[in-house]
Amino acid sequence: MPNVVIIGAQWGDEGKGKLVDLLTQDADVVVRFQGGNNAGHTLVVGGEKTVLHLIPAGILHPGKSCVIGNGVVADPEVLCLEIDRLKKRGFLADDGQLVLSFDAHVIMPWHKAIDVAREARAGAGKIGTTGRGIGPTYEDKVARRGLRIRDLLDEARLARKVKERLPGARDELRRLGAADELDEAAVVARYAELGRKVRPYARDAALWLHRAIQSGKSVLFEGAQGTLLDVDHGTYPFVTSSNTVAGNAACGSGIGPTAIDSVIGVTKAYSTRVGGGPYPSELTDATGERLRQVGGEFGATTGRPRRTGWLDALALRYAARVNGLDGLAVTKLDVLTGFPEVKIAVKYRAGGETFDEMPSDLETLERCEAIYETLPGWTENLDGMSRYQDLPANARAYLERLARLVGVKVMAVSVGADRERTIILENPFRK
Ligand code: GDP
Ligand code: IMO
Ligand code: MG
Repeated sequence: MPNVVIIGAQWGDEGKGKLVDLLTQDADVVVRFQGGNNAGHTLVVGGEKTVLHLIPAGILHPGKSCVIGNGVVADPEVLCLEIDRLKKRGFLADDGQLVLSFDAHVIMPWHKAIDVAREARAGAGKIGTTGRGIGPTYEDKVARRGLRIRDLLDEARLARKVKERLPGARDELRRLGAADELDEAAVVARYAELGRKVRPYARDAALWLHRAIQSGKSVLFEGAQGTLLDVDHGTYPFVTSSNTVAGNAACGSGIGPTAIDSVIGVTKAYSTRVGGGPYPSELTDATGERLRQVGGEFGATTGRPRRTGWLDALALRYAARVNGLDGLAVTKLDVLTGFPEVKIAVKYRAGGETFDEMPSDLETLERCEAIYETLPGWTENLDGMSRYQDLPANARAYLERLARLVGVKVMAVSVGADRERTIILENPFRK
């Protein structure tokens, strides 16, 4: 049975959650492999909205397993809250549905405090992080001083690790001029309690996943953030602290890359970005404001207004390359209805130079402005359109031009937030 990776092809918030929720009907297991609760994945089913930050977007399907892999940084406070909320609504009735890797790193209170304090001090050059402690937790992981889920399950070990780590965290907070509200005994007591709460889910997730794949189950890997936020391949340093590209689905869950059969990139029919960093096709005018209002472009995690702009074919072609995309899922096509014309960035210009491909140098990219190709818009309401041929001719022409510019076929088109409002042209699980 096929194993499929779904990643964001832009700067995050492309509608990954919606697509993962929909395709879960054809998969057995859904895996988050990187990021943490900086993610906000929105699912709308029958008009009812669910926003998930940490638990995979397959959780609304009873009987389907959801795995939080080793590559995720998990805030156990958020995880427990999310579990409680789902249970209150009747989901996750069977604890066996959720698998939490022993090796996922834990976001501790000091990680959050350091993240917020750094951003407060950074002024104009700040990254615009979500303030959830993501960067500092990955730093500790790489520095080999992090705490993992397994450390929460043994109180003596937890106490030892907190004692070891706390002086360094305190020093850092002091240097940042931030308040130190960390009480060692209280931290140990609280995180031991959280450890007891997550214990029913904690497992050797890589082994669990291996066995699932061996037994013929289909796995859907759910990316968080987007390609241009990847710590290696994104617009560094205006990125998140993990690898968001498809290749990390293997590392972040402990399976081999040969288990992956296909990779789908999700893109909006236009573009958005939250936080700082270069964005050549950004619109700061009334058109950008209209995209923000019609598209409801306010962050699912922080509520911040998202920056908006036209679609960027250079960025998408780059995403197609670094992820090895087999197909594109284009979301929010309905938002473009009523624009007299729609544009796609096809080149960049900086000084006297033009670029056909996205420049890898940040300072060059910062100087770039987009050169657009303009296509005619459409006025038809896309509500209820369930077949590709129902779409207005100009909307189809837009999608076909996009596919040609990116060199990747369109496999799904989303025309509304609800699970049902999706046109699947080719289902990666039904090949
Ligand atoms: P994710 O982080 O990639 O899962 O995306 P988010 O959930 O942060 O943001 C996508 C937003 O667009 C959510 O509010 C979704 O409910 C909404 N959405 C997804 N697909 C569509 C669509 O086709 N049309 C419209 N109008 N909204 C959509
Ligand atoms: P989903 O999964 C959009 C952005 C932040 C900031 C940068 C670094 O919902 O698509 P971090 O807190 O990760 O250190 O912030 O990354 N960012 C996102 N933008 N969608 C997300 O997730 C994001 N997660 C992080 O705004 O610019
Ligand atoms: Mg989001």
